Amino acid sequence: MTQAENNAVMYEVKDGVAKLVMQSAPVNALSRALRMGLIDGVTNALQDDSVSTIVITSSLPIFSGGADISEFSGGDLSPMLPEVLDKIEHASKPVVAVLPGPAFGGGLELALACHHRITFASNKVGLPEVNLGILPGAGGTQRLPRLVDAQTALTMIVTGKPTPVTKLPGVFDKISETPESLLADTRDYLSSLNGSNAIKRTCDITLSMDEKTQAVFDAVTQQTQKTTKGFYAPLKCIEAVRGAYTLAFEDGLKNESKLFLACMATPQARAQQHFFFAERAAGHVNDFDKSTPERAINRVAIIGAGTMGGGIAMNFANAGIPVTLLELKEEALEKGLALIRKNYENSAKKGKLTQAQVEARMSLLSGTTAYEDLADVDLVIEAVFEKMEVKKAVFSTLDSVCKPGAILASNTSTLDIDEIATATSRPEDVIGLHFFSPANVMKLLEVVKAEKTAPDVIKTCMKMAKKIRKVAVLVGVCFGFVGNRMIEPYGREANRLLLEGASPEQVDRVLTEFGMPMGPFTMGDMAGLDIGYYVRQSRQEHISHDPAYGAVADRLVEMGRNGLKSGRGAYQYEPGSRVPIPDPEVLDIAKKEAHRLGVKQRSDISDEEILVRVMFTLINEGACILEEGIAAKSSDIDVIYVYGYGFPVYRGGPMQYADEVGLGTILDKLVTYRDQLGDYGDMWLQPSDLLISLAKDGGTFKHYQK
Ligand code: 3HC
Ligand code: NAI
Repeated sequence: MTQAENNAVMYEVKDGVAKLVMQSAPVNALSRALRMGLIDGVTNALQDDSVSTIVITSSLPIFSGGADISEFSGGDLSPMLPEVLDKIEHASKPVVAVLPGPAFGGGLELALACHHRITFASNKVGLPEVNLGILPGAGGTQRLPRLVDAQTALTMIVTGKPTPVTKLPGVFDKISETPESLLADTRDYLSSLNGSNAIKRTCDITLSMDEKTQAVFDAVTQQTQKTTKGFYAPLKCIEAVRGAYTLAFEDGLKNESKLFLACMATPQARAQQHFFFAERAAGHVNDFDKSTPERAINRVAIIGAGTMGGGIAMNFANAGIPVTLLELKEEALEKGLALIRKNYENSAKKGKLTQAQVEARMSLLSGTTAYEDLADVDLVIEAVFEKMEVKKAVFSTLDSVCKPGAILASNTSTLDIDEIATATSRPEDVIGLHFFSPANVMKLLEVVKAEKTAPDVIKTCMKMAKKIRKVAVLVGVCFGFVGNRMIEPYGREANRLLLEGASPEQVDRVLTEFGMPMGPFTMGDMAGLDIGYYVRQSRQEHISHDPAYGAVADRLVEMGRNGLKSGRGAYQYEPGSRVPIPDPEVLDIAKKEAHRLGVKQRSDISDEEILVRVMFTLINEGACILEEGIAAKSSDIDVIYVYGYGFPVYRGGPMQYADEVGLGTILDKLVTYRDQLGDYGDMWLQPSDLLISLAKDGGTFKHYQK
């Protein structure tokens, strides 16, 4: 590629300044074309006697989003970024980075390799590579510590969080007050460059590991071991930064490169990079396009101010959108609003909100018991009891009071949105918006499209999710949609293992060691075992007729062991404590049930058997969901599991994990246990057709298209 063919970097010379303007939308990812453009630009400027100074900047609102992550899977990558940055740092004319917006990863590393850096006060920069399972691999771990203190460098690199530029005075030579003053300040700065201070190479700064710095490393290492359990890259980040203090610059770079490649080769890096694109791909759906109009959402109503209604309302108030809460009775309304205030006050106590912000948000919330007050709202989200007849009555009333074009949404976690829509004369305006609990905290939103939901309603809801800072995934209608449908066989298999002789604590330990935030029994106790019981009772005609299905869980509920809220469930709890304590009584109940049902108890249930039977069953249900088209792509299921259920992001989500393990292995192990255990029920360990066919052809979920 020649300079003339490369549009990624615009090159111009004016008044002795060569300007290299990166213009590769959307984020100036440092692709091969951009790297070549930078090398060519610097080479030209060095050869041009009329040029005294080189400026590297961007025509976009961002300086650069870093290395092009899509290139990580291979191809011809030369020149590599470290090579480009070495050329820039060793240029014989001053090179100035002018940041008109954020710089991340390789983007910040590019700026650090320049001799000077200029930006404006409200800008942010960061080294977020750790979130991709890697570490800064273009000198970031060596140059940043040479410009800031060890604590700041380690924090930025190990957490990956963006940092305001005002907190990095060592990095920036000039910080303009506003983006608007950046141009004039840059001009002044350039004209001040002369003599010996014109070329300042970060690599020339020497560091050493003194006692104070060593103490910072020890503290950060200890903290990181605690907060990033299971992750590979964070400790490698620390090891790389240590090289800045203990090795010469060139050796530090070599050490960084070795650690970078080690991280890059891990399944974790593949998983986290998969997840980066999965999250963004969730927003790419075929149900609408650029020409589909969006409906304005300026006023929202929530029906039901209970657990979910209150949390959902907070999301809108946080985004500055007025919300009306409707309840059956004044007391329920007051209780709901008081709980919201308490939540905000708690945030204020923790310093997350000011009292003025609490009041501003509360002033956006109003309550009513009269449906007529909802005549003007643009979106209604129903969050009343999970009963079809109650939901239908609410939707029928909404149909009669809401203005034409209002979106009528249900937060149901299991019920059929198509049936709910029949209660209205406008099924095209009806959609599911399934928030997760606590709704003001959890990032996931399943947007459930019903048969007749209009494309503009889907588009409006997907875009609205971004405004209220949720990650939306579009799914189809079925019992439990994607997340809860998959969790059902997962819990079912866990309960079956209990019946066969495993203990709740063994099953939970296997799953937490895998990386889940809690095991299925702790999760069941927290959610309330009565919820599953009620679902099993009310769906008799749809579920297994195997008497062993849910047997132990049913007995627990019948004994009043509803979980954490009743102090006893699959575990027991001290009053006021949420810490599960193993309870021998539960093992006795399981033993009796096994005897009653003729299930043989075993003492040899291995951790591997537990992982296969519980986790692979979850994956198998994911395959069914994919095959039925309830999820459009496997990465959508991964996003739902990471954001809705705390699935470890370093495994990329259940479907990515399955692809990494190999679908042949998943199938073999499921079938092995099925055959070993015999045909013990109509719902157990039956591999889905999709899993069988992909395993046979050596396929992956990732590349499956319905
Ligand atoms: N490489 C490739 N594509 C990227 C990218 C990158 N570094 N950063 C963003 N993109 C793509 C996204 O996939 C998305 O594509 P799509 O429109 O097809 O879905 C598009 O750019 C826009 O991205 P966002 O939707 O995320 O845009 P936002 O404006 O919300 O956010 C951003 C912009 C903050 C830059 C965010 O995209 C981001 O965090 N990017 C990644 C930053 C990062 O991790 N950088 C480190 C890369 S690794 C590295 O530099 C290694 C080096 O040390 C050697
Ligand atoms: P909840 O019992 O805490 O709150 C329901 C509220 O709705 C109560 O305050 C009740 O007074 C009110 N209500 C009942 N009928 C009403 C009517 N006809 N008109 C107006 N208000 C009415 O229940 P929760 O947990 O908030 O659940 C609500 C919905 O959200 C259910 O459909 C549930 O399946 C769903 N959901 C619940 C989740 C959870 O973890 N609790 C998670 C995701 C969805």
